[in-house]
Amino acid sequence: ASQVEQDLVNVLFTEQQIQRRLAEMAEQIRADYEGKELLMVGVLRGAVMVMADLARALDRHVEMDWMAVSSYGSGTKSSGVVRILKDLDSDISGRDVLIVDEIIDTGLTLSWLVNNLGSRNPASVEIATLLRKPEALAMPVEPKYVGWDIPNEFVVGYGLDYRERYRNLRDIGTLAPHVYAPVPPG
Ligand code: PRP
Ligand code: MG
Repeated sequence: ASQVEQDLVNVLFTEQQIQRRLAEMAEQIRADYEGKELLMVGVLRGAVMVMADLARALDRHVEMDWMAVSSYGSGTKSSGVVRILKDLDSDISGRDVLIVDEIIDTGLTLSWLVNNLGSRNPASVEIATLLRKPEALAMPVEPKYVGWDIPNEFVVGYGLDYRERYRNLRDIGTLAPHVYAPVPPG
């Protein structure tokens, strides 16, 4: 196992499982947007991997744009404050928009984004997410495309980070306890 893979204690989804599920989601999306132009909006930074793989699995014309939001505000996510760090480059009025993210946790990020993008007069706004934690959900979010529901555990890989690391793992899993252990002095 590589240096990065050694830190995973439990693999929830392998690279192969993720790609297979994305292919199924892509098939659904292709059918739903047949005859329409599709603008995919990825949520930086976690959605980079799923956006790249889902867009390629779609195997049709799409446009891609990106937003960066901060859901920390005054300290924690529970503050409920969301700020735009990077807005879309495109005008979405009249467009069919598909927001792409890798996980819905409390739902704060995507409920806010759906409202925000919804106020710009798009033809439609839907959500595709690879993962969702139903037990953690605190805001109303109804994604049309969901890869898997998972328990309320801290997961990393495939875009998901712990202190900015592990986003580049091909699999998704939970971290070994030694990762969280404090570094001894010296
Ligand atoms: C993570 C994740 C989702 C969001 C989900 O992003 O990528 O976008 O949190 O959590 P929520 O449902 O509770 O809002 P984060 O804001 O940590 O930034 P990142 O994408 O740069 O990792
Ligand atoms: Mg994110």
